[in-house]
Amino acid sequence: MSDKLIIFDTTLRDGEQSPGASMTKDEKVRIAKALERMRVDVIEAGFPIASPGDFDAVQAVARAIKDSTVCGLARALDKDIDRAGEAIKEANSGRIHTFIATSPIHMKMKLRMEPDQVVEQAVKAVKRARQFTDNVEFSPEDAGRSELDFLCRILEAVIDAGARTLNIPDTVGYNIPDHFGSLIGKLRERIPNADKAVFSVHCHNDLGLAVANSLSAVMNGARQVECTINGLGERAGNAALEEIVMAVKTRRDIFPCNVDHLDTTQIVSTSRLVSGITGFAVQPNKAIVGANAFAHESGIHQDGVLKSRETYEIMRAEDVGWTTNRMVLGKHSGRNAFRTRLSELGVEFASEAELNDAFGRFKELADRKHEIYDDDLQALVTDSMATEHERIRLVALRVCSETGEKPSADITIDIEGEEKTANAEGGGPVDAAFKAIESVVKSGSELLLYSVNNITSGTDAQGEVTVRVEKGGRIVNGQGADTDIVIASAKAYINALNKITGSAGLRANPQTGDV
Ligand code: KIV
Ligand code: ZN
Repeated sequence: MSDKLIIFDTTLRDGEQSPGASMTKDEKVRIAKALERMRVDVIEAGFPIASPGDFDAVQAVARAIKDSTVCGLARALDKDIDRAGEAIKEANSGRIHTFIATSPIHMKMKLRMEPDQVVEQAVKAVKRARQFTDNVEFSPEDAGRSELDFLCRILEAVIDAGARTLNIPDTVGYNIPDHFGSLIGKLRERIPNADKAVFSVHCHNDLGLAVANSLSAVMNGARQVECTINGLGERAGNAALEEIVMAVKTRRDIFPCNVDHLDTTQIVSTSRLVSGITGFAVQPNKAIVGANAFAHESGIHQDGVLKSRETYEIMRAEDVGWTTNRMVLGKHSGRNAFRTRLSELGVEFASEAELNDAFGRFKELADRKHEIYDDDLQALVTDSMATEHERIRLVALRVCSETGEKPSADITIDIEGEEKTANAEGGGPVDAAFKAIESVVKSGSELLLYSVNNITSGTDAQGEVTVRVEKGGRIVNGQGADTDIVIASAKAYINALNKITGSAGLRANPQTGDV
């Protein structure tokens, strides 16, 4: 058995299934490149049949990524598999991941199929996927609530049909570490051709046990873990990549495999990139990537750490990339330095005009903020990509906030080439600005969430604002960054309104939605 643990990242697929976390093609390519820099083994780039946009994104990732395997998800249906096969065709190394539900409740209520039919369809799907690639993964969806004998039967059959990775999902996050680990051990023991496939796990976090369940599976022979950056994913999310990787690396004394091939110093910047793009902020006390993960507050801890780091620290902050966010550029930096650093961060400009536009924004920022860090650059690019094709644009904003007076905002917005102005009062300057914007746009949407984070430290730092709005069951996030947080808020709100009033419809969810 291999002693390498294969890291399969599904931020771009399962992560994107979090309500409001949808990403554009360019954003997906940026995240995929960050994952490739980390040397993640497999990147699940999406569900190609879900929409033409999803297909394009998987195809773009397949073209852009050279070192990692790029995977497309497909239900066990001919049309899904053909679409996934087409999307990954140009990858240096491509994989099709096909799945069908195997738990009694899913087979009866969702699929309305008999177990024999499910086995037959799974075998047929794997054989069809093998016509596109030798690298085929099969998942019995809701394995965590499936019967052991049935799992053994279907998995044996799909190995014979050509599946080389068997992924065991705890789809609803129902499992407990001991049981889940022993399930993996039993499957490996009982399935006669088990040695022909790599066992993988995919755990959801509904009971907060996704990482623990995954690691228990690794102890019992799983050699691939499916996970996401920051634990993003459906409902309570998936197992967090950074936690899995650092647990295996830190406790190399007990794990039977390693993650030595990964560049863990890329973890923090990738986490920030994903939270900036999706608008899902990372809580300060989140393991590994939270702002407090390596901060020592109490006197006793500080004293211990100063005397000897190992007294309270089990990992080095620099090993996950906390100190690599150095000052990179300033107001005297030229276009070449700007382009080179962004290229190192995986951002390539499609044209000189695009580069010039981003460089102009960089100069404006450098006038207001003297030290520009990698995270500032990432936010700047996220911001310009978000606004690039916007129908509604912020032209000007003036807010008035004074002790004892009601804050008010004057706004000018460009809607498809026509400038409109409005004024509104509110409980605070942000509230006033949002009311003024809505009075012009008339989106009829409801604001579900508003949050501000500083991108770097200091009072001149850029504030990164996320808003989440809902209309008719559709939820979208908007982001905006600026050294002025009221302007960042207005940009974020307008970004969300562009999405909610735009033409993109609901995307199909591979597990629950019809395509
Ligand atoms: O949670 C799940 O079961 C999935 C499958 C598609 C692997 O995401
Ligand atoms: Zn899942």
